[in-house]
Amino acid sequence: MAITLSHTQRHFLGIVLLMASVGLVAAGCAPALPPSKPLNELTAEEALGRQIFVNRCARCHYANTDSGLHGPGLFGLFRRKYLHNGAPANNERVTDVIERGRGMMPAMGDAMDDEQLGALLAYLHTL
Ligand code: HEC
Repeated sequence: MAITLSHTQRHFLGIVLLMASVGLVAAGCAPALPPSKPLNELTAEEALGRQIFVNRCARCHYANTDSGLHGPGLFGLFRRKYLHNGAPANNERVTDVIERGRGMMPAMGDAMDDEQLGALLAYLHTL
């Protein structure tokens, strides 16, 4: 038996389907990320990186939200495909920003040795 819908019902169904697909597209653009690695599970290296972050970066960046402070929030930094400027979110690009700075962000290459930079990156990967 075929289901017959009145003109109004068909119209209504169309709107519902349209809204559902718009919703799917919107959700696809900003998939919710699972939470960051809990602080009490950080390795020694990641914990050192967090110290560096707190001392050098936290005044301008939140680690646990997307919301901006002076710079963009870094929550999920490496779990996204791209940085805010469209560059791929990988160690190379992030190191570049840290060492050379960008826009209003000061260059910090001289302020950190390789071990500190490595620890900082390890921590940023937990966000
Ligand atoms: C004085 C404020 C300030 C400090 C300190 C600072 N940043 Fe930034 N940061 C910024 C600003 C502003 C931007 C945006 C730059 C732009 O694209 O114009 C930025 C951008 C970034 C980006 C790129 C984010 C994206 O998605 O494009 C990363 C990664 C980053 N900062 C990491 C760090 C780390 C790690 C530290 C600590 C070593 C740090 N920042 C310290 C202000 C700061």
